Amino acid sequence: MERPRKVPQLILGSNNLSLAVSFLVLLTMVCSCSSVGVNWGTIASHKLPPGKVVKMMKENGFTKVKLFEADEWILEALMGTNIEVMVGIPNIMLQEISENPKVAADWVEANVTDYLYTGGVHIKYVAVGNEPFLEAYNGSYTHTTFPALKNIQQALNDQGVGSKVKATVPFNADVYFSPDSNPVPSAGDFRPQVRDITIEIIQYLHANDAPFTVNIYPFLSLYSNDYFPLDFAFFDGTNYKPVRDGDRVYNNVFDANFDTLVEAINKAGFPDMKIIVGEVGWPTDGDRHANVKNAKRFNQGMLQHALSGNGTPAQKGKIEVYLFSLIDEDAKSIEPGNFERHWGIYEYDGKPKYELDLSGSKRNKGLVAVDGVEYMLKRWCVLNPDAEYLDDLPDSIDYACSLSDCTALGFGSSCNNLSAQGNASYAFNMYYQVNGQNSRSCDFSGLAVVSDKDPSVGDCQFPVMISRGGQMGFSLLRFFGVFVFLVILL
Ligand SMILES: *[C@@H]1O[C@H](CO)[C@@H](O)[C@H](O)[C@H]1NC(C)=O
Ligand SMILES: *[C@@H]1O[C@H](CO)[C@@H](O)[C@H](O)[C@H]1NC(C)=O
Ligand SMILES: *[C@@H]1O[C@H](CO)[C@@H](O)[C@H](O)[C@H]1NC(C)=O
Ligand SMILES: *[C@@H]1O[C@H](CO)[C@@H](O)[C@H](O)[C@H]1NC(C)=O
Repeated sequence: MERPRKVPQLILGSNNLSLAVSFLVLLTMVCSCSSVGVNWGTIASHKLPPGKVVKMMKENGFTKVKLFEADEWILEALMGTNIEVMVGIPNIMLQEISENPKVAADWVEANVTDYLYTGGVHIKYVAVGNEPFLEAYNGSYTHTTFPALKNIQQALNDQGVGSKVKATVPFNADVYFSPDSNPVPSAGDFRPQVRDITIEIIQYLHANDAPFTVNIYPFLSLYSNDYFPLDFAFFDGTNYKPVRDGDRVYNNVFDANFDTLVEAINKAGFPDMKIIVGEVGWPTDGDRHANVKNAKRFNQGMLQHALSGNGTPAQKGKIEVYLFSLIDEDAKSIEPGNFERHWGIYEYDGKPKYELDLSGSKRNKGLVAVDGVEYMLKRWCVLNPDAEYLDDLPDSIDYACSLSDCTALGFGSSCNNLSAQGNASYAFNMYYQVNGQNSRSCDFSGLAVVSDKDPSVGDCQFPVMISRGGQMGFSLLRFFGVFVFLVILL
């Protein structure tokens, strides 16, 4: 599809006072709003309508968003906004893109260049793959990532947008380390298995004036090590032993981790490399350390730190971060842990989980919710109090949980204190809601019944699902279309 190319939008008439005034107003607006980015993942059984989410992002002052793929509904919703976009290419596409420059060019044209016109989408980065060198991938993407990156940047250059849109690779923090014998940031280097290829990529990114992108998770440091000092995961703790590295003192694991990367990149010979933190955040459920209090403490501290300009001991200045993540995703794989579905600052239904001041000034300014969200009826599926034969109950619970989300039931999670009956009701309800409150999904051979009384207790919420907004409208429309067609035929 041919669309006009982006042209400079701000033309200031020399004697036009009102224009000058609005320009000033615009400037102060730009300056007073925060410059915090956020990841918007969509692995959810019921997605909020993108237009409503974008409206919420504008109202809150999110200025940057990172997407895991070029979802056309989301890109359309972002049209005409000033929100800067990093659009991702899934790992699964890396091989084809690495082997065939034409595939790369088509991807760039359809998913980047076509959106770059006045009133289009403000795309600034393409994320080539997502943590492709993660150790758990066993090297599956080690040989395709760099050629894919080159083909994408080349396509951007060929299509005349390479000076505005840069290709980068979001790396996981396990591409670098400091040795056990000297566990300080200044000893940082790249992991031997990926060292050479990572340095080649850095060289290429540097030559193209593109940033190095890294995902850093203090929560995972805490989760994976029982002896990790809790306070060292945050930015305002006191109960830990600071890490001393020569003259440098580290008071939080984020800085220590970031500087390990800084040192590894320095050693490779690129001391002026720009670094972006592509993901950082804290989950609110699914682990004993994953709760609203810790998530708010971490994210608020992270924002303040990133925007303060203090930087880290090895690198002064503001830190560019994209929080992970905007909204909970109830269909993500829980292989990394039960917390994986609870990273959102927002619940599945667009309600903020906690107050967060995006300007980093800790004024406890609240977040605006997504407006106009439609819910299904206030109905829950619970264990039938009259059920007599309970032999099948454990199997029924397992079945319900395997096809929905029971991560809140686990140890240390929000619904871990339910009774055995409560567990059953929770599982049945999650299955029922994920299936759009279909009456056949609340039976379990008579073990379950629909109830109009909210079974939530304390922090343990039994959700009511949101309606399938746009998608429902579409299928209804199609239904009526077919109906009208049949009527005409007859
Ligand atoms: C654009 O991105 C979408 C989403 O990842 C993908 O399905 C599609 O194939 C891409 N278009 C082209 C022409 O590669
Ligand atoms: C990586 O290797 C491990 C052990 O051999 C295996 O369990 C896992 O499934 C592999 N993962 C991938 C993504 O190939
Ligand atoms: C569950 O109960 C235990 C023991 O009464 C209590 O210590 C814990 O805080 C409770 N957890 C939640 C999430 O309510
Ligand atoms: C409820 O389920 C959770 C998760 O499976 C389990 O840890 C807990 O012990 C169960 N509670 C009861 C009372 O059976």
